[in-house]
Amino acid sequence: MSSSRIFRAPGRVNLIGEHTDYNLGFVLPVALNLATEVVTEPSPDGNLHIFSEHRQERQSFDLAGLATAQPRKHWTDYPVGVARELLALGFHLAPLQLTIRSQVPEGAGLSSSAALEVATALALLQGRALPPLEIARLCQRAESQFVGLPCGIMDQYVSVFGRQNSALCLDCRTLEADFVELPAGAAIIAVNSMVKHQLGDSAYRTRVAECAQAATALGVASLRDANLDALGNANMADKPRHRAWHILTENDRVLRFVAAARAGDLNEMGALLVESHASMKADYEITCPEIDFLVEAASEIPGCYGARMTGGGFGGCTVNLVDPASVADFQTSLSNAYRHAFALVPAFYLCQPGDGAREITKPAAGV
Ligand code: GLA
Repeated sequence: MSSSRIFRAPGRVNLIGEHTDYNLGFVLPVALNLATEVVTEPSPDGNLHIFSEHRQERQSFDLAGLATAQPRKHWTDYPVGVARELLALGFHLAPLQLTIRSQVPEGAGLSSSAALEVATALALLQGRALPPLEIARLCQRAESQFVGLPCGIMDQYVSVFGRQNSALCLDCRTLEADFVELPAGAAIIAVNSMVKHQLGDSAYRTRVAECAQAATALGVASLRDANLDALGNANMADKPRHRAWHILTENDRVLRFVAAARAGDLNEMGALLVESHASMKADYEITCPEIDFLVEAASEIPGCYGARMTGGGFGGCTVNLVDPASVADFQTSLSNAYRHAFALVPAFYLCQPGDGAREITKPAAGV
């Protein structure tokens, strides 16, 4: 039997609940049919070798030095951050060659980083048991503490726990999730604006800090414990007030969206997407002209129930709920309009909610 093994972890599209995860609120992502795979083979020399097929670049690490490795602002920070977390949990890491190949577009708001972290964790574990929630948490720690983006747990959680044909309504405080079956009659289309503005990471940190400021002014540990009445009466600066307004109304929209999905009410689901986008644009201020255009243009196309930006912001993808019979026309109309306005060709992904991370090694022939 071949000693090579393959581990696969999906990207995600978040249907609704943006920037609510690090405020311990609600999110509703689906795991994608697009994934990152890590192929492992024994290392020839006792070191850890990591090869990115996409970049055609190989990097090598001395296993003895990994526990004290420092971030380099390099793509290997993701796998190295995960390796460090596993070492900190007491796992011995075998010398391996990892080959990374990914279908998840980078910088598109579809969580290529969480897919890489989770696939790497499974690859380095080599089948050793670790509770799935611990895998999600260690990958989140790798990203927030080693890579340096103070993210919530949504992306890693759904990459681990995703399920076919379902969205996952995650309560980021209890870390318990309900699976929500999506009504037939609507395709989920992610539209890649092909732009990612530099501002992204620093603006993310600022939003995290502004939400913490708002929580402090409200006298609560996180915005999950606040409400709109208290916000109305509180004394605080404009920016944290607007950020908190988005978070509180967005949490409510997630729950209303779940109820609408369970009732099969596609019009209500679409309207909530549009409301969420308006809130991200006006109150959270994380959209950009290209993305606003894609959302507004999509909402006018027959057969589109609604659209919004998905992911961290400042570019990336929109998520659209579209009548399956209208998908082809939707793509043509939106692509033409966007090319005309920005001279950019958007990419379309038909998102089929898929399963979470797992090993996909096929048994060798004859076994
Ligand atoms: C990024 C982060 C997530 C989440 C989203 C915004 O994807 O990794 O934790 O905060 O942005 O909803």
